[in-house]
Amino acid sequence: MPELPVLDHDAVLAAVSATEAVERVREGLLRFHAGEWAMPPKVYLESPPFGDFRAMPARGSGLALVKWVTSFPGNRDRGLPTVTGVICLSDASNGEPLMLLDARSVTALRTGAVAVVAARALAPQGARTVGIIGCGLHGAWTARCMAQAGYGPGVCFDVDRGVAEALAEELSWSVGSRREALGCEVVSCVTPGSQVVVDAGDLRPGMHLNMLGADGPGKAEASIAAVLSCALFCDEWEQTSHGGELTGAVAAGLITRERVTELGAVLAGQASGRPGPAAVTLFDSTGLAIQDLAVAAAALEAWRGGAVQAQTVTL
Ligand SMILES: NC(=O)c1ccc[n+]([C@@H]2O[C@H](COP(=O)([O-])OP(=O)(O)OC[C@H]3O[C@@H](n4cnc5c(N)ncnc54)[C@H](O)[C@@H]3O)[C@@H](O)[C@H]2O)c1
Repeated sequence: MPELPVLDHDAVLAAVSATEAVERVREGLLRFHAGEWAMPPKVYLESPPFGDFRAMPARGSGLALVKWVTSFPGNRDRGLPTVTGVICLSDASNGEPLMLLDARSVTALRTGAVAVVAARALAPQGARTVGIIGCGLHGAWTARCMAQAGYGPGVCFDVDRGVAEALAEELSWSVGSRREALGCEVVSCVTPGSQVVVDAGDLRPGMHLNMLGADGPGKAEASIAAVLSCALFCDEWEQTSHGGELTGAVAAGLITRERVTELGAVLAGQASGRPGPAAVTLFDSTGLAIQDLAVAAAALEAWRGGAVQAQTVTL
């Protein structure tokens, strides 16, 4: 067996910039929408009371991958990351493993990137100000990707004020209350999803919401009343109806497939985006393996092009 390159956390971030991640994720969503990339729904393996594991496969552009990744909300108190794991990237023509990658950095990059893709597609033209509710790992990467894409200034809110302060200082943004963050034009919610942070009374005409934190069964960051007041978009219907921000409303029979548009269809010009300047748009990101594939493929190319060094293992 030949030596297998391994990209650790820092090597992934050195290989793929936030700007490139945004372009790659956008391209991945388009290819998936066109049926060129394949992705079965992710499989959840509960690990009560700690959290869950997810197995996330995808195939496209001659590559295939599986991401074995976690969401363990209590890990933060134990000094461990909420999200961690490994990606195995393989050649789709012969099954040969091509690279192992740190899943934490790929997940952070592609999650931040999709927030930019959704904001560009759905927020009113000229929207710039950013509210971040939940400034942990993925909130921070969402903010970094938004800032790299030219959005800002932003207002950072977190129940842990120190975390919000650190992010605000890094980006020269400000710390504010939940209400002040919700006063921005593009608001991204990236909390663990155990508590509602957006209610119907928080909605303002023209705002765009990226709901990123509720990515599994039983999680929600918006109340059902808030969800029902919005024009609804998602990354992928199967996932969003079973393990995302819209799941509660779907389970209550208040939302059906016809009410929700996949972002890929909007990007491809095959579905309408924002219904009008006064609408409130809500994008539910559950996190797709094709996003991981898009970023992992970019990392593989960067390594092959000599832009980044890898460790190696022989299996
Ligand atoms: N949609 C996706 O693709 C995707 C990808 C990765 C992670 N996630 C999800 O995002 C969530 C956050 O993940 P993370 O790795 O950033 O976790 P994290 O623990 O690093 O950060 C979460 C932050 O939210 C804050 N918070 C908690 N409750 C809050 C509240 N009510 N109001 C404001 N802030 C609050 C915490 O203090 C913490 O700073 C998790 O549920 C995770 O599963 C989604």
